[in-house]
Amino acid sequence: MTRVFSGVKPTGHLTLGNYLGAMRRWAAVDQHEADALFCVVDLHALTVDHDPARVRRLSRQSATLLLAAGLDPELCTVFVQSHVDEHARLSYVLECVATDGEMRRMIQYKEKAARERQRQRQRQRGGSVRLSLLTYPVLMAADILAYGAGEVPVGDDQRQHVELARDLAVRFNQRYGHTFVVPRATRPEVAARVMNLQDPASKMGKSDDVGPGIVYLLDEPDVVRKKVMRAVTDSGREVVYDRETRPGLANLLEILAACTGGEPEALSGAYTSYGALKKDTAEAVVEVLRPLQARHKELCADPGHVEGVLRAGAERARGMARPTVDAAYRAIGLLPAVAEAETAGAGAVVTV
Ligand code: TYM
Repeated sequence: MTRVFSGVKPTGHLTLGNYLGAMRRWAAVDQHEADALFCVVDLHALTVDHDPARVRRLSRQSATLLLAAGLDPELCTVFVQSHVDEHARLSYVLECVATDGEMRRMIQYKEKAARERQRQRQRQRGGSVRLSLLTYPVLMAADILAYGAGEVPVGDDQRQHVELARDLAVRFNQRYGHTFVVPRATRPEVAARVMNLQDPASKMGKSDDVGPGIVYLLDEPDVVRKKVMRAVTDSGREVVYDRETRPGLANLLEILAACTGGEPEALSGAYTSYGALKKDTAEAVVEVLRPLQARHKELCADPGHVEGVLRAGAERARGMARPTVDAAYRAIGLLPAVAEAETAGAGAVVTV
């Protein structure tokens, strides 16, 4: 059975982009068809200026939303990254396989570093960014490779990072012997890149400043309606699906298609006005979010349940990651710990 790994970073409230680009498929397809792990990747949230209490709050909320979106702990493993040491253990070893040039070429690093530098300057804190922002993709590779995941279901913005994980796995295997499964990214057919409703040239991102162009999973129905009805559309009158020349319209058609199970191109033929398209899109989003929000409310009333799921998830995850990470340590030349050597029957002292 294919092993699948994916995650969300608790740097903001989860958005419709996270849901349509990733989470929905995890619940509808991946957890049923694969041996799947889904993770709240909290270590990644420390790569930019952060408030510890907010990261804790968002981590809990993200985990609750993953369950509310339909992830079933009977079918898949849901856990928090920092509860499993193997991620950080493997990350360092992979840093010894990756190059700084590779890191600096990452599109997200360039974008995020520029944004973070600007924020730091506004707060009069100089213009530097955390080193972990540069090495972030290596930690992400460790997340994936530690579990031997063959598939990584993500939105388009994460594809370059999964490519890096592939490159690092291949390089490690060639240099030190076969250790890692080489993963590949998978994406949804529509809505792999949901755009900001107010700026269809930018991704709908949760870490961005709160804005009317971002639909959050916990937005009230009227807030969702208002945001969608005010979406920026393009000049022109007829409703056509063309991402290049009509990005605002294409975004709405993709959201509607993703929510209703249709095809953006075919749906465009059903509309003669922007107003009608926006109205239907708003209602479709409200309907998709309704059960998720109801379940979220139930889960919030029972925080012990969510904690129990995360505890059990971390324990399972640890058991899966440990052998692979130990194997990587041995392959790259690190001496096994005494206890490990003894268990392996190799004796406590190893002669060189
Ligand atoms: P994150 O938290 O930014 O996003 C979580 C998932 O949601 C997808 N996504 C989108 N899809 C379509 N349209 C959008 N506007 C949109 N915004 C976000 C993302 O592609 C992602 O699949 N680095 C990752 C988290 C991570 C990870 C991993 C993922 C860490 N380790 C290992 C997979 C495997 C991130 O920041 O995702």
